[in-house]
Amino acid sequence: EKGHLWGGRFGSGPAEAFERLNASIPFDIRLAPYDVRGSIAHARMLGEVGIISREEAEALVGGLEAVLAEIEAGEFEWTLTDEDVHTAVERRLREKVGEVALKLHTGRSRNDQVALDLHLFCRDAAERIRDGVLDTMLALVQVAERHRDLVIPGYTHLQRAQPLLLAHHLLAHFWALGRDLRRLEAAREAANVSPLGAAALGGTPHPVDPAFTAAELEMEPFVNSLDAVSERDFALDLLYACAVLGVHLSRMGEEWVLWTSQEFGFAELDDAYSSGSSIMPQKKNPDAYELMRGKAGRLIGDLNALLVVLKGLPLGYSKDLQEDKEPLFDAVDGVLAVLDVLPGMLRTARFRRERMERAAGGFALATELADFLAMRGVPFREAHRVVGRLVRRCEELGVSLEEVPREELAAAHPAFGGLPEGLLTPRGSVAGKKSPGSTSPAAVEEQLRRARELLETR
Ligand code: ARG
Repeated sequence: EKGHLWGGRFGSGPAEAFERLNASIPFDIRLAPYDVRGSIAHARMLGEVGIISREEAEALVGGLEAVLAEIEAGEFEWTLTDEDVHTAVERRLREKVGEVALKLHTGRSRNDQVALDLHLFCRDAAERIRDGVLDTMLALVQVAERHRDLVIPGYTHLQRAQPLLLAHHLLAHFWALGRDLRRLEAAREAANVSPLGAAALGGTPHPVDPAFTAAELEMEPFVNSLDAVSERDFALDLLYACAVLGVHLSRMGEEWVLWTSQEFGFAELDDAYSSGSSIMPQKKNPDAYELMRGKAGRLIGDLNALLVVLKGLPLGYSKDLQEDKEPLFDAVDGVLAVLDVLPGMLRTARFRRERMERAAGGFALATELADFLAMRGVPFREAHRVVGRLVRRCEELGVSLEEVPREELAAAHPAFGGLPEGLLTPRGSVAGKKSPGSTSPAAVEEQLRRARELLETR
């Protein structure tokens, strides 16, 4: 019988290979602190409603606290025979408090128990990821504030398009992370439901009080016992939040990989966040940003993995549900590892003002000329054509737009005679923007104000 939970019905123990396949303990052991907290709440409830005596409840709670201390000290030992974390905790409890431990599982099943553990894990994870996102958002605001006057080229099709304030660009990522924050907060709410008291699937004849257990854990109680043990939506919500966050971080990572390339040369990472090459002595590589980009693939895969596990399952527990954990852990670990690094990496990066500003000029100012003509009454389509021809002329002459001789300008269109000094510069371009939410210094100040406000309310 080898001490298995369900040994009563069986004539022989499991084949070793099956035991290995079946066991979740190698990976679900990390749920142990949540499992114990759930068991403490359950034991208190059992005593409260009189299913067990108060003394028995106290003995269980005391023993569980001792088990928790062992877990926290990293001294908890498990074996494959334990099968899963729930059994391991109960086995250890029995070793500590004796036969009273056999009463703990009254009115409970591993089905509601594992669902609870996962809810607690997700609630915790959502909070920790949210904190990391907030810190990243703060770093973006700080860097933006520190470099208020820096301009970079904005791109479409990865072709230079129009100048932007660097702060505007950084804040674009800030607002994306702000939406991630909302998704993470929603995922936390979804996780904040206690399935304890659902038992195996249909409830229990014992007079359990799910609302009491839920309150002990600062959660809401479930409504339908079958739904409570069958659904993993809260895990999907968190995985989705991680996947979208991962995509945002990946896009940011891709930009930094470009910015730190010699070809762009816009920024340099601090040595503390770069790595070198084993053969090429000159190399300074943006590995962290590449990993940030690479992790997104896994995060999307993790979400997909759980969706596919769930899609064919009838209601009620199926062992397939054991496959919910590793993708979830993988996603949470991956996101947290990145968020641990990113704020520091942002704060310590250096920007190369001249490289950025030079790249933000030239033909990236062409729209400025077209808008200038349009404001002088030239229909925009016509203005566009005039400037397009001028760009071609510049290419023939081998000059940039800022260097184009006055007479060429005048030949392109008489209205260019009144072109104000300084308009044809990256800074003149951003300063000329008038629309709300634009890259103009005034609009960016307004964004910074709103960004600070958002951070203060969190
Ligand atoms: N290790 C299982 C899991 O991760 C725990 C629940 C087992 N329940 C059962 N009826 N076999 O899902």
